[in-house]
Amino acid sequence: MQNTKSYVQEHKDRFINELIELLKIPSISADSTYEKEVVKTAYEIKKSLEKAGCDTVEICETPGYPIVFGEKVIDSDLPTVLVYGHYDVQPPDPIDLWDSPPFEPVIKKTELHPEGAIFARGACDDKGQMYMHVKALEFMTKTDQLPCNVKFMIEGEEEVGSESLGWFVEKNQEKLANDVILISDTGMIAKDVPSITTGLRGLSYVEVEVTGPNRDLHSGLYGGAVANPINVLAKMIASLHDQNNYITIPGFYDNVEELSKDERSEMAKAPFSLNEYKKSLNINAVYGEEGYTTNERNSIRPTLDVNGIWGGYTGEGAKTVIASKAYAKISMRLVPNQDWKEITELFKNHFESIAPEAVTVNITPHHGGQGYVTPVDSIGYKAASNAYRDTFGKTPIPQRSGGSIPIVSLFEKELKSKTILMGFGLDSDAIHSPNEHFGIWNYLKGIETIPLFYKHFTELSKDQ
Ligand code: BES
Ligand code: MN
Ligand code: MN
Repeated sequence: MQNTKSYVQEHKDRFINELIELLKIPSISADSTYEKEVVKTAYEIKKSLEKAGCDTVEICETPGYPIVFGEKVIDSDLPTVLVYGHYDVQPPDPIDLWDSPPFEPVIKKTELHPEGAIFARGACDDKGQMYMHVKALEFMTKTDQLPCNVKFMIEGEEEVGSESLGWFVEKNQEKLANDVILISDTGMIAKDVPSITTGLRGLSYVEVEVTGPNRDLHSGLYGGAVANPINVLAKMIASLHDQNNYITIPGFYDNVEELSKDERSEMAKAPFSLNEYKKSLNINAVYGEEGYTTNERNSIRPTLDVNGIWGGYTGEGAKTVIASKAYAKISMRLVPNQDWKEITELFKNHFESIAPEAVTVNITPHHGGQGYVTPVDSIGYKAASNAYRDTFGKTPIPQRSGGSIPIVSLFEKELKSKTILMGFGLDSDAIHSPNEHFGIWNYLKGIETIPLFYKHFTELSKDQ
């Protein structure tokens, strides 16, 4: 019987070309101009799941973008793996910083990817990683090695908060019943250091508006006598961290889970070079919460960041003006046990309370979600670990990630099953950034590794 490695070698050119076709469709969920393209992508995925061997594939309508749901049941006594992924992508802006157009995929070699990497928006997040699962299914059905049942649920709103998916999951618990959820939408430490993501941060995303005078004013006639909302907003934002970079919102840390010394020293064993980290980002020093390492700051600690700030005159030349309004978009990354709705409320109350009387503040919450941790002693984790061992020849390292996939905690709540995060991206793949790419080596390694997860999971399930 053919093994995954030789199947991948035999079909790799087609696997690459199929992904390239998918990457050409600009499925930008945040921008309604691309509505047709987003929907078209769902239909393309439906076709590819049918070709890969699903018995039934449905386009499930929602209040927003459709969810592609595919299924192959071989025996209801066998376990069921539910694969989740997303077909929407982030906007490509700033477009000027791309070396090639974001929706015209090209293969280029890089230092980390001497075999070549596919450059396009969505190459890694998440079309490339999602499509590895479609090709893994193709391998298992075409070579008659699918050991259990499989369901696919691919959504088109992950990058804007997965609202419709939340609605869909709550209504379809039975349809989505499974024994484990499998996702490739995260990263791994390095090509020679496989890792399994065991934690994700939660998120609270808010927009603030600060209003001063009822209209824009001449900054000479009024300057110094009325509040400038941009100055005020900058001051308010600056006060949200203290001199040690702790967040100053009262109650913000109340439920933060503190890791034990042992857990922290276990984390510190993961290979990491601060010098290389600084070099790769062109920075002279790292910056963050006192008392924590870089890897702790970006995974087990909560944060508050301004994602965008605007107001006043930003055109060419100089204009002397005091703007009427100033704005900022602020995200808070949360850790397990912090409730995102509670944190949003704490932020709102605090931000209103620190506003001087001379301005009014308006706060609009956007989306959010809970953090997630998955145990390393589940059979899902063991199956993933064995699969990596088979294809990388090494035991993968458990690693908590700083990113968020808010729907994962909802899966656990509604579907009562654990999620296994088998990510094959690298931090340097520039997801959400210009020149996003996905290494061909990573892509093919993913396709090679995933079927072994099914095999080990089915075998380990028998012993339960
Ligand atoms: N795939 C990412 C999340 C991710 C990337 C987790 C790398 C771990 C490692 C996902 O598409 C994403 O971008 N999520 C958003 C949140 C979402 C609600 C917009 C994020 O983390 O900013
Ligand atoms: Mn993603
Ligand atoms: Mn993303």
